[in-house]
Amino acid sequence: MNILVTGGAGFIGANFVYLELKEHPEDRIVCVDKLTYAGNLETLKKAMQCDNFRFVKADICDRKAMFDLFAEENFDIVVNFAAESHVDRSIENPEIFLQTNILGTQVLMDASKEYGVKRYHQVSTDEVYGDLPLNRPDLFFTETTPLKTSSPYSSSKAGADLLVNAYHRTYGLPTTISRCSNNYGPYQFPEKLIPLMIANALAEKPLPVYGEGVNVRDWLYVEDHCKAIDLIIRNGKVGEVYNIGGHNEMKNIDIVKIICKALGKSEDLIVHVTDRKGHDMRYAIDPAKIHAELGWLPETRFADGIQKTIKWYLDNKEWWERIVSGEYQNYYDNMYGDRIKDVEK
Ligand code: NAD
Ligand code: DAU
Repeated sequence: MNILVTGGAGFIGANFVYLELKEHPEDRIVCVDKLTYAGNLETLKKAMQCDNFRFVKADICDRKAMFDLFAEENFDIVVNFAAESHVDRSIENPEIFLQTNILGTQVLMDASKEYGVKRYHQVSTDEVYGDLPLNRPDLFFTETTPLKTSSPYSSSKAGADLLVNAYHRTYGLPTTISRCSNNYGPYQFPEKLIPLMIANALAEKPLPVYGEGVNVRDWLYVEDHCKAIDLIIRNGKVGEVYNIGGHNEMKNIDIVKIICKALGKSEDLIVHVTDRKGHDMRYAIDPAKIHAELGWLPETRFADGIQKTIKWYLDNKEWWERIVSGEYQNYYDNMYGDRIKDVEK
């Protein structure tokens, strides 16, 4: 099968590329990524060595580029990870979120429709359900929970989800949607809670906890998310939504304390800062459907996953230090500037 993975130079997309190359060496993977500030080609260095992998630097909003690529590649499956993904950035500048997350999704679905793609999979988020109150631990997001968003980011993801459902119903596009909780693991950009706290703690910099730090997130090791998507694109039912989460709810402040302890750093580094505007209180996924229909269960316990993640950031300092310094953004031009035509073949 020929699989298009968009946003594969980002955190989850790259982990998915590596999972597919390992588990399905018979398939071909084409990665399209615009290489925004969040995309890092260094992450895909090993994938570039595989004959069944191709990287294309392009914007999913670029209709001509996408249609040309679909015409050339004749994809069987499209998995759309490409997105602006950071809530804080969406509060500062919503526009690019609407462009990439909604209009980019439309372009990909138009191309999928035109070229007869057998499965279009939209990688969505639990944030489309809004939040749950802290004092109702009995409540969880199911696939039928109404969409009720809080941030421009989550609104753009919900807008895309509605459009996916419309393309399925109106045009018969064979779609699936997955809505996952917070991921952690290797290659996460150090603007998100866990890698940011690891990087700051190692540098003995303040650890900025928003508000009281009592907001709850439902953490899942990234490989478990990727395995769930792999199951959905191959065995999931067309037209369906699947929630993905591992029943692992934790308060932000507790996560930060775990990181301090693991790195032998003082909790005195923790600083409570002004809260995020519209900050969601609690996310909690009910993953019963994907378990019952596809047999998916998370394999990595948080206690193990967080140690593996911390070790990865310790072992791969160069990867994130180049991001923190901004140097990584020159990587593409330095490494591929003249050779780009070869890279894109
Ligand atoms: P990320 O920000 O690390 O990566 C996004 C990637 O998309 C980057 O490589 C970026 O260059 C690329 N991109 C952005 N705009 C593009 C465009 N216009 N054209 C082509 N490429 C573009 O994000 P992530 O955390 O890996 O998230 C991936 C997907 O998973 C997103 O759709 C996000 O909404 C969803 N998701 C994330 C989480 C999480 O915890 N990180 C949880 C659930 C769902
Ligand atoms: O739930 C899935 C979502 O998880 C994804 O759809 C998003 O793409 C992803 O970014 C993530 O969103 P969050 O807003 O939950 O993740 P973030 O890492 O930005 O923040 C996690 C929690 O930690 C949140 O309550 C805000 C808080 N926080 C975050 C940062 C960066 C802090 O207290 N301090 C910080 O410096």
